[in-house]
Amino acid sequence: MRIGVFDSGLGGLSTLLACLRYLPSAEYRFFGDVAHAPYGDKDPQAVRRWTAEAYERFLAAGVDAVVLACNTATSAAAAPLREQSPVPILGLEPAIKKALDVESGPILLLATTLTVRGDKLRALLQRMDGAQQRVRAVACPGLMEIVEAQTTDWRAQAESYWRERLLPHFVELRPKGLVLGCTHYCWLEDAFRDWVGPGCRVYDGNDGLARHLWRRLYGTEAPAPGALPQVARVQLEFSAQREEKTQQASAWLASRGVLVERAGMARPRPFTRG
Ligand code: DGL
Repeated sequence: MRIGVFDSGLGGLSTLLACLRYLPSAEYRFFGDVAHAPYGDKDPQAVRRWTAEAYERFLAAGVDAVVLACNTATSAAAAPLREQSPVPILGLEPAIKKALDVESGPILLLATTLTVRGDKLRALLQRMDGAQQRVRAVACPGLMEIVEAQTTDWRAQAESYWRERLLPHFVELRPKGLVLGCTHYCWLEDAFRDWVGPGCRVYDGNDGLARHLWRRLYGTEAPAPGALPQVARVQLEFSAQREEKTQQASAWLASRGVLVERAGMARPRPFTRG
């Protein structure tokens, strides 16, 4: 089983980890379009084109399924790509439905500008009872870049971003659920949990996507997720900064206990939280 996983950068590795819990021995091709990141501030047509190029690349590599590990690319490109695809295309949507089902109060959604302004989110909110009243969607330009850059103080930078730009929404809305609608933000999930405190649960769409991937591949409900494998077969590819990004990606996966086989480098550098 070969699965292509795509994002504008490193964020989609959080989705890859979720897939590894269900399909630990599949062969993964991870492609990060670093040359064009961030997608969230770009024209949707351009994002559609770059996503289609990544998709073609995966098809040429003989994948059995394509995972758009990027809410922004899903919003801009999933529907047209699915029209004629010979393989399943799984896309990430902000986990609003889950948050609305579980929580009874307001929900704060954080996503890229393109996702927040996209027709896909509007349609999603219209389809769900009460969603338009209960969900506040906030665009977070610049947050993806903090995560992606991996400077030594990236977590401190993210905390300042939270305090200055997101905390005012949190204080005003008093949400019961916080939805991380960008795979880059998932790498800050533990920090978000600390920032929002015990009265607000944090949601993302990665586990739902992984279970959906299983259903599309095997036609049955996914089993309970297993532990992460110690070694995973992942081919890491990036459209720019290849060596640096491969090192960062390997180190991120290693920080979760997953060593990459065939990553194009000998040993991952130890991960530092900064
Ligand atoms: N990681 C992506 C997402 O889930 C996009 C970040 C970006 O390129 O702006 O939306």
